[in-house]
Amino acid sequence: MQVKKAIFPVAGLGTRFLPVTKAQPKEMLPVVDKPLIQYAVEEAYAAGVREMIFVTGRHKRPIEDHFDMTFELEVALEQANKRELLEVVRSVKPADMECIYVRQSQALGLGHAVLCAQRLVGNEPFAVLLADDLMIGEPPILQQMVAQFQEWRASILAVQEVPLEHTRRYGVVAGVSVSDRLIDVQRIVEKPSPELAPSRLGVAGRYILTPGVFHEIAAQPRGVGGEIQLTDGIASLLRREKVFAYQYSGKRYDCGSKDGWLEANVELALQHPELGEGFRAYLKSLAL
Ligand code: G1P
Repeated sequence: MQVKKAIFPVAGLGTRFLPVTKAQPKEMLPVVDKPLIQYAVEEAYAAGVREMIFVTGRHKRPIEDHFDMTFELEVALEQANKRELLEVVRSVKPADMECIYVRQSQALGLGHAVLCAQRLVGNEPFAVLLADDLMIGEPPILQQMVAQFQEWRASILAVQEVPLEHTRRYGVVAGVSVSDRLIDVQRIVEKPSPELAPSRLGVAGRYILTPGVFHEIAAQPRGVGGEIQLTDGIASLLRREKVFAYQYSGKRYDCGSKDGWLEANVELALQHPELGEGFRAYLKSLAL
């Protein structure tokens, strides 16, 4: 069973990042030289996904433009014989990748966003990637999860240990250890306070889900924050199917927050093949 489709919920307002997100989508914020959404799409593509489903909202047109052909730019680069730049521009959307857009007209939560893509996904397993979680791993995190999915044929949630005082920011899971990285999930709770958190394993923004979850989300009342929560849908799914939590190998940057985004920029700039060396020297010269 292949994972061919991925959902990118990109309708959020990005209020944590104001004022920069006043008139531009938070998913288009650059980390070094690429927008956040491109990192997520590249991760899905590397994992074998070819159908990218964006759940968008008003003011999200720049995302559609980014994954479209930019005819004038390509012609200009071709005429100037700038082959490398032309390649950079064209590689944003490889020829075998399809981009589909569906609107979430009301901000009713992550579960609701996923539900907006139900008809496009149909009756097959799918991935969900939250672009403001920038995930760096080798192999890429979603690819690690696809390997687990192929072995277990069940939903896989990416998790990481988080400080106890941060459980309020995450879906938190608890369960029985199957191997050193895999947990058979028994419970999942959205944004619990530290006293109520069943563990310190927080869900990062990567999921592989079986289509049964749609039915479960649709039956959910409003949860934390008055929103229809994906976590609550997964909690219901648990009663019918196995769900695993996978402790990925790699690093997550919370680019939905200003400090996480700054850290991502610094670390990825240091690793950048062209910029890394000069940037390292510059940081040293600051002698902080
Ligand atoms: C969402 C999910 C949460 C998950 C988190 C990961 O929360 O609801 O369960 O742990 O993404 O980033 P958000 O950060 O959108 O509030």
